[in-house]
Amino acid sequence: MQKKNSLDGSFGNLSVTAAERRQRISLVFRAVAPRYDLMNDLMSFGIHRLWKRKLAARVTDVSGIIVDLAGGTGDVARLLADGRRRVVICDPSLPMMEAGRGRGSAGMTWLAGEAEKLPFADASVDLLTIAFGLRNATHLQLALAEIRRVLKPGGRFVCLEFSRPAAWLAPLYDLYSFLVIPRLGALIAREPLAYQYLVESIRRFPQQRDFAALMEQTGFRGVYWENVSFGIACLHFGNRPHET
Ligand SMILES: C[S@@+](CC[C@H](N)C(=O)[O-])C[C@H]1O[C@@H](n2cnc3c(N)ncnc32)[C@H](O)[C@@H]1O
Repeated sequence: MQKKNSLDGSFGNLSVTAAERRQRISLVFRAVAPRYDLMNDLMSFGIHRLWKRKLAARVTDVSGIIVDLAGGTGDVARLLADGRRRVVICDPSLPMMEAGRGRGSAGMTWLAGEAEKLPFADASVDLLTIAFGLRNATHLQLALAEIRRVLKPGGRFVCLEFSRPAAWLAPLYDLYSFLVIPRLGALIAREPLAYQYLVESIRRFPQQRDFAALMEQTGFRGVYWENVSFGIACLHFGNRPHET
């Protein structure tokens, strides 16, 4: 019999219920929290910082209520909270937020909450960002509907997520993510299964065109995307239309 709350790497197993999956994801982030930032820098050679800066550069014109969902250790929020703006980081993992708080919290508020049930009133948010978080949602469409619900009419949504790289890069990228990342996870974070999960969750997330279609279906408008690093990651943009 499998231990229900152990980190056994079997997230893709269809017999795992939504509640079990949520519990396992929570254990993954509890396990990786202490070394999350270091691992990100090592795995991406620091490139994730450029991607996050690009996200921040695309929303410099937005003010008001800003939420960074799945904000983790606060990387994106730190870029958005530029002195004139405050940012609410919303994440279900207290260990991830604890790990980030020590790195500075100027202009930031930390709040527990998950994408499928956001702790914000209807039409209350001007900008919602999420970086590398939506693929952890147990119900992707429900999460998107929640994001749309909390945005003000005309409010903006930006999602930075791993996606499908250009065909010429795919074999090299596959080799790197399936061979090198779990080994780095074992060596540095001592959590190979957690990093196995992270790699597998990237593959399950819809690619550029499919995610854009899902956003449209959920009622976002002005939907477009911008690949970064040849599609290894992608910035998705959309807004809640004014007439709703
Ligand atoms: C890979 S980390 C990304 C952290 C940060 N955004 C960054 O880019 O460095 C994914 C985050 O998603 C959070 N998460 C997991 N399940 C979630 C859910 N259902 N809703 C919102 N966030 C979730 C995790 O706790 C974790 O902090």
